[in-house]
Amino acid sequence: MEERNYAEILGKEPDIAVRAPGRINLIGEHTDYNKGFVLPVAIDRQITLTLGTRADKKVIIYSGDFGEEVSFDLSQDSYDSKRTWSNYPRGVIQSLKMEGCELKGFNAFFRGDIPMGVGLGSSAAVEVAFAYGLDQLFGLSLKPKKMALLCQEAENSFVGVNCGIMDQFTSLLGRKDHALLLDCRSLEYQYIRLNLKDFRLIVIDTGIKRELQDTRYNIRRNECEQGVKVISRCLKAIHSLREVSLLEFNNIKDFLPENLRMRSQHVIEENKRVRLCSRLLEKGDLQGFGRLMVKSHQSLRDLFEVSCDELDFIVEKLRKDPGVLGARMTGAGFGGCAIALIKEDHIESLAQGLSGKYRKRFSAEPNFYPIKASAGASRIGRV
Ligand code: GLA
Repeated sequence: MEERNYAEILGKEPDIAVRAPGRINLIGEHTDYNKGFVLPVAIDRQITLTLGTRADKKVIIYSGDFGEEVSFDLSQDSYDSKRTWSNYPRGVIQSLKMEGCELKGFNAFFRGDIPMGVGLGSSAAVEVAFAYGLDQLFGLSLKPKKMALLCQEAENSFVGVNCGIMDQFTSLLGRKDHALLLDCRSLEYQYIRLNLKDFRLIVIDTGIKRELQDTRYNIRRNECEQGVKVISRCLKAIHSLREVSLLEFNNIKDFLPENLRMRSQHVIEENKRVRLCSRLLEKGDLQGFGRLMVKSHQSLRDLFEVSCDELDFIVEKLRKDPGVLGARMTGAGFGGCAIALIKEDHIESLAQGLSGKYRKRFSAEPNFYPIKASAGASRIGRV
């Protein structure tokens, strides 16, 4: 598509420009909405957003990636079923208004290089770019944690996906060269330095797009909530799966219907893996971290049932390769991306070999992206 910028489209120079990154999750999948632990990394792919104020109450948003524009009045906004990309900023505007933030009319132009719909947090990055950008434009002085919660609220209530807090939190608070160990109940967090030695984190994109509006995500969340109800009846009153130890769970698991047992077991064991992984990474034990990545994948495949043939194929091939320490699906699943920890000098030959095998099996081409751990949302010079 022809490259155009804010000034060409909106007829004047913008006031500010901001960026918000996508994310991968090293481990801790489907644990965030169960009030557990996650270990994500903000990546060096991002949404850039330029903003300018207007004298009236109008909002004009142009998406450079879709080559489309929406315009509406600040006081009257509703879900847009045609230009669904616009529901992320619309949702954020609504959350900010509900929070009592004083907004005025504005023009916005955004685009990004985060592959969309493949589990790399592109929607959260759009939300965060708007929340952070509007906060800067109008001097709202929102704290990052509050902003993350408002973005999550936008996605839950306006877009209609019951996502957890991980993606928005990471896009705001990620740090260069670090992973973020987040307790999704207290929202306390800690940075874990990533010393990967001669290994690199690689994203392998199956190319299978997944719409999070996809009801399967909400179904999993619902199953976890039902798990909480049954466990509360036969063990103790709990509000989330986070509150159950593996020992307690093993004593009562036979009372749970099969699907609820499987979902709950994944969440309880995955929470343990996250904390163990953080300790291993702090000690520089990359082998141990790699082994837990594979365990996490197997649990997402067999117990939480959110993997797919393509992701399983990639992880199986990678884990047998001597240049790979670990691999797993990342994000919600049902397609999307895998991540792997691969020896740097081995990446090219491995990517070639794996692409050939993948092509033969699925008649499709996987994409490989090396990624770096990057900083959360920030102001930038004009784009
Ligand atoms: C999506 C959601 C997150 C989280 C992951 C699964 O990325 O947005 O909140 O639930 O799936 O770990």
